[in-house]
Amino acid sequence: MSAHGLYPGVAVVTGAAGNGIGAAIAKAFAAEGCKRIALTDRKSDLLDAVKTAIEATYVGTQVYAVSGDISDADFVQSFIDGVVAKFGRIDYAANCAGVLGTAQRCTETSIEEFDRLNSINYRGVWLCSRAELGVMVNQDPLDGNVPGRAPSRGAIVNIASQLGIVNKAKTGPYSASKAAVISLTRSDAIDYSQDGIRVNCVCPGVIATPMTVWDEESRKRTEPFVQMAPLGRIGRPEEIADAALFLCSAKASFVQGHAMVVDGGYILT
Ligand SMILES: NC(=O)c1ccc[n+]([C@@H]2O[C@H](COP(=O)([O-])OP(=O)(O)OC[C@H]3O[C@@H](n4cnc5c(N)ncnc54)[C@H](O)[C@@H]3O)[C@@H](O)[C@H]2O)c1
Repeated sequence: MSAHGLYPGVAVVTGAAGNGIGAAIAKAFAAEGCKRIALTDRKSDLLDAVKTAIEATYVGTQVYAVSGDISDADFVQSFIDGVVAKFGRIDYAANCAGVLGTAQRCTETSIEEFDRLNSINYRGVWLCSRAELGVMVNQDPLDGNVPGRAPSRGAIVNIASQLGIVNKAKTGPYSASKAAVISLTRSDAIDYSQDGIRVNCVCPGVIATPMTVWDEESRKRTEPFVQMAPLGRIGRPEEIADAALFLCSAKASFVQGHAMVVDGGYILT
């Protein structure tokens, strides 16, 4: 196996600022030997901090970080063009940028709130995966360093949610936006199999990130949802990163169009 282990190629991660799932995936790529990593998020200061932390911890890793809004088609295309100009290709893409909805029933939800959620969670993931696929489809396959597995043109992992699979009270537009991500993942998996590209998604359960728990009050509000899972604890962003990295690697070479639920058993009850 080469010095770059399972990740000899170029990784792209959206929603990579702060202490959430995207940042955990970015750090996991670096920890596993990926040497070329591109990051984006709309929070520029927090994004720069993740870049700095990775470069300081994993010396020799190049991080290309550009802040912007993934619901903006022009930004997404310019970011992906920049990644290709910098690193020449894209082999692994984790589309994590997303927002949580407000806890409201349909008639209480404003049209603006519906559009905000869908423009980021659904349209944003579509824009990113569309631009990433556009690069992957035109590049030479890369050997993923697992004996007996064919070289791959790329692997995409979209971050959906357990709420894309099961429904709970007052989650309508958020749940629907995540179900759309699962459906999009399956369609892209069908359409790009012929090109040697895999497209999967991860459906996290309740994970300790700035989206869910940022103070004592938010921890209390989140606890009933944590207790819905048989494992009875909140998940760690690193536990989602492990699933995403597996799906990006050549070890997942026969996993296609899958919605991998990583939720402590939340959807079982
Ligand atoms: N934390 C959970 O319990 C949980 C559960 C299921 C699914 N998810 C999903 O996981 C993904 C990551 O969430 P997280 O928990 O790490 O939350 P987070 O808030 O820590 O991370 C999301 C990141 O996306 C960025 N972002 C939001 N809108 C953006 C936009 N328009 N353009 C660019 N960046 C944008 C934010 O700035 C943030 O850094 C989301 O898609 C979320 O819906 C999270």
